[in-house]
Amino acid sequence: MTELDAVIEGTGHFLPSNVIDNTHFESFLDTSDEWIQSRTGIRTRCFAAENETTSDLAIAACAEAMKNAGAGPEDIDLIVLATSTPDYTFPATATLVQNALGIRQGFAFDIQAVCSGFVFALASASSFLQTGAATRALVVGAETFSRILDWKDRSTCILFGDGAGAVVLAAQPRGKSQPRRGILASDVKSDGRYRELLYVNGGVSKTGTVGHLTMKGKEVFRHAVSKLAVSTNAALDQAGLTTSDVDWVVPHQANVRILNALMSRLGLENEKLVSTVATQGNTSAASIPLALSMANSKNLFQDGDIVVSQAIGGGFAWGTCVMRW
Ligand code: ACO
Repeated sequence: MTELDAVIEGTGHFLPSNVIDNTHFESFLDTSDEWIQSRTGIRTRCFAAENETTSDLAIAACAEAMKNAGAGPEDIDLIVLATSTPDYTFPATATLVQNALGIRQGFAFDIQAVCSGFVFALASASSFLQTGAATRALVVGAETFSRILDWKDRSTCILFGDGAGAVVLAAQPRGKSQPRRGILASDVKSDGRYRELLYVNGGVSKTGTVGHLTMKGKEVFRHAVSKLAVSTNAALDQAGLTTSDVDWVVPHQANVRILNALMSRLGLENEKLVSTVATQGNTSAASIPLALSMANSKNLFQDGDIVVSQAIGGGFAWGTCVMRW
């Protein structure tokens, strides 16, 4: 049987037009632009308009990814969409995207792994593609975190933003004499003992409300750096690679200090880091595909480059994907 690789054919992203700078928060919280920039590296983030939903952002990102890949609605038979802020409790936001884009075949579903959702989505979609269950997928991260922020909590509401990113991932026969391409390895993990460090205090079954994000920032910081470094090395090892093979690190964009600490823990120079956190804040599941798409639109990645993406979020759930571009 022909072995299949799951290869990235195109990328796309979308940010709401409403750009919010740090001085916005000074008007109703005891905070400052200086504090936010020095502790997080964030200067601005985008918030969705009142009538703009997660699926609206996802549809725009997917349309751009399909155009970039040269794929039409008839070419897509899988959508895996990572979000913690779906339009509705059900149906899955992925099916709203499927309908809006005129995709009439295959299957579409959502993944909930909070900030690590896109890594879980990539790992899941590549399994479907490599086993032949689907041929070409949209893998999407889309969020409107502004809807679950507590505007009275200065330690969390300044961190997050809204947005969406997507990739077209296709099954391609593995070349005999060339190295494997696309998703080379994934390491995904979760540990429910850490729920209290980062969670939303509402939900359909528990409270009948949407709830607000709550976080113990210092502890999340500590776990993030150590778990992401271990996961990156595990995924590279699975791919038969080491950190010296890595060309680009495109991590979940939580906080510039976490990103710098991770690079240093991995022994990699910051020149290899793709960082968008300064202008987007933390867009949870959307942050990796947003950063991948923005970098790709600037032709940052060359064919054959090794790109690693890692993320951690509520649960905790965390993981890493290793790709050959
Ligand atoms: N403006 C001014 N002061 C603030 C603000 C603010 N926006 N937020 C907190 N403070 C105050 C605190 O109240 C505290 O005051 P106190 O000393 O009088 O009690 C002081 O600043 C220091 O607070 P710390 O929590 O110790 O600040 P720290 O340097 O740890 O920075 C931060 C806080 C930015 C949240 C940091 O812990 C962090 O980045 N954690 C990682 C969490 C993260 O990025 N989570 C995102 C979701 S998970 C993920 O995506 C990986």
